[in-house]
Amino acid sequence: MNLIFLGPPGAGKGTIAAKAKDVFNIPHISTGDLFRANIKNETELGKQVKEILAAGNLVPDEITIKMVENRLAEDDAKNGYILDGFPRTIAQADALAKMSNVDYVVNFCIDRDVILKRLSGRRVCKSTGRTYHILYNPPKVEGIDDETGEPLIQRDDDKEEAILNRLEVYEKSTAPLIDYYREKDLLVDIDVSGAPDEIMENLKKILK
Ligand code: AP5
Ligand code: MG
Repeated sequence: MNLIFLGPPGAGKGTIAAKAKDVFNIPHISTGDLFRANIKNETELGKQVKEILAAGNLVPDEITIKMVENRLAEDDAKNGYILDGFPRTIAQADALAKMSNVDYVVNFCIDRDVILKRLSGRRVCKSTGRTYHILYNPPKVEGIDDETGEPLIQRDDDKEEAILNRLEVYEKSTAPLIDYYREKDLLVDIDVSGAPDEIMENLKKILK
């Protein structure tokens, strides 16, 4: 099954994808995670995109499309995938249509005030990307990753200014994909205001 998780920053795409990948037995491919891994490893790509991510702007389509094309060519993506955070522009969606057939586009529906609470309380483990929330999903020991014992950090783009910019970028460049995919009859809406387990149960029903 080839899935796209579409939705605003902080909607919980990564959180649900981390569960759905095991349920559906397909890889979770997050373009944000791929960029962050490159930044951490100080690759050429990482150096190119570091400032763009910190500010919450979009990486140019050409760079992003190439990265996804390479990732989808890997063996584990042959029997399906969850694309989280891609496509984010019409040009990316057109490019994806040439690479692969999408089965469903899952549209994460959520109010702005909930997004702001989710993003401002998010903490992540830098080496694994494991994601927590100070209120909704706290680690066992405050500020420490449950498995690696490393300190948790706040993403650069989870500071207020970058959050507001990411929401603006989403409305301008990414939200038009909702109509784009609805017209192609690929869109399924899901209310993601509840708890992750409840959302996962709904998703299983919707995709049946
Ligand atoms: P990316 O990493 O994709 O960021 P994003 O879309 O802004 O999404 P987030 O990761 O912030 O949110 P999420 O929906 O995954 O929420 P999460 O599960 O973490 O992209 C980062 C950057 O990379 C972009 O800004 C851009 O620069 C670049 N980029 C990436 N893709 C690109 C592309 N295609 N083109 C160009 N540039 C690109 O949850 C958020 C918080 O809420 C967590 O704390 C979590 O614990 C909590 N939470 C989640 N679900 C629930 C729930 N149901 N109840 C309570 N709390 C919850
Ligand atoms: Mg994410």
